[in-house]
Amino acid sequence: MTVAVIERYHDRLPVSDATPVVSLGEGSTPLIAAPRLSESLGVELFLKLESMNPTSSFKDRGMTVAVSKALEAGAEAVICASTGNTAASAATYAARGGLRAVILQPAGAVALGKLAQARAVGAVVLEVMGSFDQALGAARELAERGTHALVNSLNPHRLEGQKTLAFELVEELGELPDVVALPYGGGGNTRAVGLGFEELGAGMPRVVAGQAADRAATVATAIRIADPVHRKEADAVVARSEGKVVTLSDDEILAAWRELARHEGVFCEPSSAASVAALRHAPEIAGGRVVCVITGHGLKDPRVVEQETAPPIQVDADPDAIAEAADRAA
Ligand code: F0G
Repeated sequence: MTVAVIERYHDRLPVSDATPVVSLGEGSTPLIAAPRLSESLGVELFLKLESMNPTSSFKDRGMTVAVSKALEAGAEAVICASTGNTAASAATYAARGGLRAVILQPAGAVALGKLAQARAVGAVVLEVMGSFDQALGAARELAERGTHALVNSLNPHRLEGQKTLAFELVEELGELPDVVALPYGGGGNTRAVGLGFEELGAGMPRVVAGQAADRAATVATAIRIADPVHRKEADAVVARSEGKVVTLSDDEILAAWRELARHEGVFCEPSSAASVAALRHAPEIAGGRVVCVITGHGLKDPRVVEQETAPPIQVDADPDAIAEAADRAA
């Protein structure tokens, strides 16, 4: 059986033998070389495919810990506000653990695949007429009443699980990378990566965090967060690591999204490409062995594909017509 996050890092996580482990085999995600992007960026680039987790995003590492701990504490329901991936993960792990899940999401701003995941596993999905930040405020208030366990990254168990990314990177590379680049939404992941490296005590790679210039309206809906709840701590991690917060236009994010897909065959959601876009935007900080964290799968957000790529060409079932159409499209 797959050794998942809690089993693999039992001694470094807030669990005991009494903790009922809710797991779907998360973690141990592929770390792959990116030869073409390495060449064009002038670094040795690796991609950590967190999109290969059970719900196709990095959230599962923290969610296995948060939902297991909620179950241990006797919770019957979990709640989160989400731009979509936390929702999909919370809903799925709640289903796995036999808990109810209440999902709050900003109306009209969640990618199709993520919404499909939360619905399929039976979560109660509520569309809040407001921003992510407003939905999170409401979720926090409701959780304080004690009826629902909050599983946003304000829940410290989420960060504990997420820090295991740093452990895996060092084990797989056999040394610290020089740079870790990742997207910056609420900042929980940036904070958790810092926590992981600091716990290892072997030094810190430069942390490069790519955020959208228009945080409130970016095409990268996963990081459409105007007011990052972990800003202070995430910015402190970046500063301690001598890294950089890089601010990116949507065009830069989409250009990196296309590069990842076309030059490396890695189809991610736009937010994830903010890691690569940040390296392009700030070459002075990128050098040596660099890891980009690919946080979410491309199938999460099919609408972006519709908007950014040519539609299929209709053709008769005839070899000449097919050859002609293929030549014309090439
Ligand atoms: N990448 C993806 C695919 C995400 O879904 C998120 C955040 C981030 C990056 C940013 O991570 O917030 O820790 O800085 N998604 C949250 C959600 C907000 O609700 O799914 P962060």
